[in-house]
Amino acid sequence: MGRTIIVSNRLPISVQQNKDDIHFTQSVGGVATGLSSIFREDKRNIWVGWIDLPANKLDKTQKKDMENELQKQMHLYPVYLTKNDVTKYYYGFCNKTIWPLFHCFTQYPVYDKSLWESYKHVNQVYANELLSIIKPNDTVWIHDYHLMLLPKLLREKMPDLKIGFFLHIPFPPIDIFQVLPWRTEILEGIIAADLIGFHTYEYARYFLNSVSKILGYNHKLGLITAGDHLAKVDSFPMGIDYDKFADSSRSAEVKRRVALIRQKEKNRQVILSIDRLDYTKGIPQRLEAFDEFLIKYPEFKGKVSFYLIAVPSRTEVEHYNSLKRQVDELLGKINGKYSTLDWNPITYMYRSLQFEDLIAFYSIAAAAMVTPLKDGMNLIAKEFIASKPDGKGMLILSEMAGAANELGEVVMVNPNNREAMVEALHTALTMPEEEQVSRNRIMQRRLRRYDLKKWYTDFMDNLEDVKKLQKDYLSKKISPGSSDKIIANYQHASSRLIVLDYDGTLFPLTSTPHNPQNDAELMALLTKLTSDPKNHVLLAAGRDRETMQSWFGDFHLGLIAEHGAWVKNFSKDWKPVEKVHVDWKEQIKPILEQFVDKTPGSFVEDKYFSLAWHYRKVSPELASVRIRQLKDVLQDMSTHLKLNLGVFEVTKVIEIKQTSINKGQAILGYLRDHKWDFILAIGDDWTDEDLFGVLPTKAVTIKIGIEPSIAKYSLDSVTMTRQFLQDLIQ
Ligand code: G6P
Repeated sequence: MGRTIIVSNRLPISVQQNKDDIHFTQSVGGVATGLSSIFREDKRNIWVGWIDLPANKLDKTQKKDMENELQKQMHLYPVYLTKNDVTKYYYGFCNKTIWPLFHCFTQYPVYDKSLWESYKHVNQVYANELLSIIKPNDTVWIHDYHLMLLPKLLREKMPDLKIGFFLHIPFPPIDIFQVLPWRTEILEGIIAADLIGFHTYEYARYFLNSVSKILGYNHKLGLITAGDHLAKVDSFPMGIDYDKFADSSRSAEVKRRVALIRQKEKNRQVILSIDRLDYTKGIPQRLEAFDEFLIKYPEFKGKVSFYLIAVPSRTEVEHYNSLKRQVDELLGKINGKYSTLDWNPITYMYRSLQFEDLIAFYSIAAAAMVTPLKDGMNLIAKEFIASKPDGKGMLILSEMAGAANELGEVVMVNPNNREAMVEALHTALTMPEEEQVSRNRIMQRRLRRYDLKKWYTDFMDNLEDVKKLQKDYLSKKISPGSSDKIIANYQHASSRLIVLDYDGTLFPLTSTPHNPQNDAELMALLTKLTSDPKNHVLLAAGRDRETMQSWFGDFHLGLIAEHGAWVKNFSKDWKPVEKVHVDWKEQIKPILEQFVDKTPGSFVEDKYFSLAWHYRKVSPELASVRIRQLKDVLQDMSTHLKLNLGVFEVTKVIEIKQTSINKGQAILGYLRDHKWDFILAIGDDWTDEDLFGVLPTKAVTIKIGIEPSIAKYSLDSVTMTRQFLQDLIQ
């Protein structure tokens, strides 16, 4: 096992320079703190990131000393950025383009080529730094939107490197993402990683959708093949170091600080609001809701204290400055309106807090308002819950935070709905204690279970699995060497059985109806293949027998239709493989028709022995929802009515048929009645696995695509299949 190299925009420390002296302080912020605890678990780990101190401020010896200390003692490798880089890359492309766009603030992004050039340049700077550090066995784990081109830059130089990428912010829906002029380069940059992680399933889905629409790579269960590269996309909701928060909230120092706040606040209920001062966090909306709350529930005047803690952030970006002005004005207005001699409704701190103070506020708060307008995850929400050993205090959480998926027991709110925000605050502040405790206990158990360590190991285990999958896939890929051997065996054989699937194997899966007779290349290939008297070619398809007959009836071929229900033995007639019942179709067809009505673009195919619901033209999102629903309904009916039906997912089709019919059964006769000295079978989906399964071990079995298969070999695409067959019959 090699080392893990974490790469992020910033290192987890900040550097201050006082004349000749250099101080390091721990960076605050969930991602940096979270990753730090993982990072420290193994002494060999390395962290590469920007250090916010222009290199030219230090003389040579100072720089060397600092690097020594950082690298030797802390395993931190600084990347230096020039002032121009910081302006154009960090404040520019990262925080004026990507940040607002990905958070769906569609009016804010700036599309400026020179900012993009700087982003490319800085990603290259990171790549150069990393390439001087990485050893082949290392795992590189790249974090966040600042470094989306880095996976590709590293992959180009080190094709086998293990690369994970994690996006900590939302990935937007395609209508928003496609606005970005450099959308193709960004997607290509990311998918060069082996594993791509998001906080929620929804962001992963949006990403896959963009990859499919913009790059043209479809996915199967989150697996994408992009040329020679296989990548996996999945969601891994980031956890927190649960015990650290739970334990600290019990510590003497935190208790001391809690007592100080209590002394000041007396019996008042504390409402906590803490974020970076960012327009995505919904701070003005929160303040306005608090104002309205005091109007609607005046009995709370003097009884509550609102702590607005805003950590300065990205102060060189105009939207952050205007937000600061807006917040200053709002809180001035509210405090001006309600303050009395002994009560200020809002206490404002515009700075970051020491860890113990943060925990003290978490523990004392009766309610925390974590109400972003959009947020990738939001770890503050999780930290707040973990810091409540007695389970008292309620979280008001925005539906728009990634964390909302895991924290269903909070008081959930839409931050744009002022009335709902007011009511949420009232609900949280008046909720009976037993209810608060019981809700928090459920969430605490969940957060303890899927904590930071679990998140990390889950991601890393998945990364290992992808590497294995790639290895398996690559080792099965037909190389020129293995292809020569197959060709030699083919040439020496005098009786050959060749079984070929049609859709996805000989012809690409398309959403438009087609006729292979118009495909001259395919027709020529089949003519040549079937005109050799030593060849017995079977086309084993899912299509109905009329279609198979009309397309391929003129060839000297054996045909298998409906995934093995019908067989046509060369010049003979079509025969069913076994006695099958079809009366179940009357019961099932109306259900499929209902699904057609509510799923535009889908249609039902009524085959003799089976029914098929086709969804090639349906958007992937809608299709995935409908498939789940349809499978549930069908499986239920089949069991309930004792129909003995199987519901099978074939590429872009849901097929319903009796379980005993399959391609393997259909070719048993050919295997029994002949002695073949060369057998070849090629297919692309699980219906072909039945076929591969009945063939003798010496058979050459080939799977098209990346999914796990029992086939011996693999090929990438229909084009490669045709090429392979051409080479075979040369
Ligand atoms: C978000 C991002 C992080 C970033 C943090 C602080 O959480 O996902 O990558 O580090 O904000 O922002 P800053 O611009 O100060 O690094």
